[in-house]
Amino acid sequence: MTANVRIEALQGKRIFITGGAGFIGSRLTRALTAQGADVTIYDNLLEQVHGSSPRLDLPARLVVGDVRDKATMKAAVEASNPEVVVHLAAETGTGQSADEPTRYTEVNVVGTAQLIEILRDQAAPPERFVLAATRAVYGEGAYRTNSGQIVVPAPRDLEAMHEGRFAVYGADRTPLEPVPTDIDVPPMPGSVYGSSKLMQEYLLAQTPAPWQSVILRLQNVYGPGQSLRNPYTGVLSIFANQAMRGQPIFVYEDGEIYRDFVFVDDVVAAFVAGCHEPALLGGTFNIGTGEPTAILTAARLIMRELGLDEQNVSVNGAFRPGDIRYAVADIHRTLRTGVWKPEVAPASGIAQLVAWARSEFERGLVEN
Ligand SMILES: NC(=O)c1ccc[n+]([C@@H]2O[C@H](COP(=O)([O-])OP(=O)(O)OC[C@H]3O[C@@H](n4cnc5c(N)ncnc54)[C@H](O)[C@@H]3O)[C@@H](O)[C@H]2O)c1
Repeated sequence: MTANVRIEALQGKRIFITGGAGFIGSRLTRALTAQGADVTIYDNLLEQVHGSSPRLDLPARLVVGDVRDKATMKAAVEASNPEVVVHLAAETGTGQSADEPTRYTEVNVVGTAQLIEILRDQAAPPERFVLAATRAVYGEGAYRTNSGQIVVPAPRDLEAMHEGRFAVYGADRTPLEPVPTDIDVPPMPGSVYGSSKLMQEYLLAQTPAPWQSVILRLQNVYGPGQSLRNPYTGVLSIFANQAMRGQPIFVYEDGEIYRDFVFVDDVVAAFVAGCHEPALLGGTFNIGTGEPTAILTAARLIMRELGLDEQNVSVNGAFRPGDIRYAVADIHRTLRTGVWKPEVAPASGIAQLVAWARSEFERGLVEN
């Protein structure tokens, strides 16, 4: 999508966005309203994300409500009468989900089921349901064995990690070679978060409905606007926050953890396409860059961008059970649709993230 190309299909289109006040949702809302869409946001302004006094400047109708509150969500849907629904509202912390499985399940699974039931009951149900899905459904993702076979390994062995062996091993105990994960690799989530997000996909597939869905499995999204106060998600925002405070940055394991960092505007472009492109209807797509970036490299880029000493980034050998070693998407099938491709390289995206984080700090807008 090019910003100055007018998308006629979005003119006047009634779009209902759950979680539309969040990182991706707020930027998506601006992109859609700039195209003339009529957007209603449904969001509970979760304190973990927005702080105690949310700063909102959204060019759309906002209904403050929880996806667990069926009556309020039903009234909001009825007032909006949407032609397209974009479902972003979720609890998003992988580690936190292990500690709070009930909350994660209620919001991500029950909330989605309720949304589907409400929409199905509408006199004029929407024509599309666009879901913010995640690469977390893949767990460790795809690896190649010595004999060239593609496998999805089980979560890594904690004992080996305690001994500093962080690589992923096959059943025969030989190290496996990571490869980008394609969309047809069988899901094997390694967290409650990943399982709850996979259940959202299953709900869409297994509840007969009059709409067609578009499922976008996002990789690690980053960029301006990602909560600098949420300690549970958004590793680059967390690093930027620590660096701005003059704190050292610690990178887990041996630093060789790889992510597919995709810039928020590229993700927004994918959702805009999801709202109107026929080529995406009924499909599930990886939304990433297809390129691995070591977390250590990304942390150093942040320090460099801030003019700080890269030596303040260190690898501490600590690890988090359930962390994924190599999370990179195979995006060939998405590219083949011809309606989306990533445009922003990590160096440029990180520069934009850092410029924004710096301005938030300078304006005193980041809570302690
Ligand atoms: N950011 C990423 O790297 C990433 C990667 C993969 C998938 N996703 C998915 O994208 C979606 C949006 O993520 P984001 O990064 O913008 O997160 P975010 O936390 O910035 O936005 C989520 C929004 O949902 C709202 N919300 C949370 N719980 C709610 C509830 N119970 N009822 C109503 N609203 C609620 C929050 O207030 C917030 O505004 C999520 O579904 C997430 O699983 C994000």
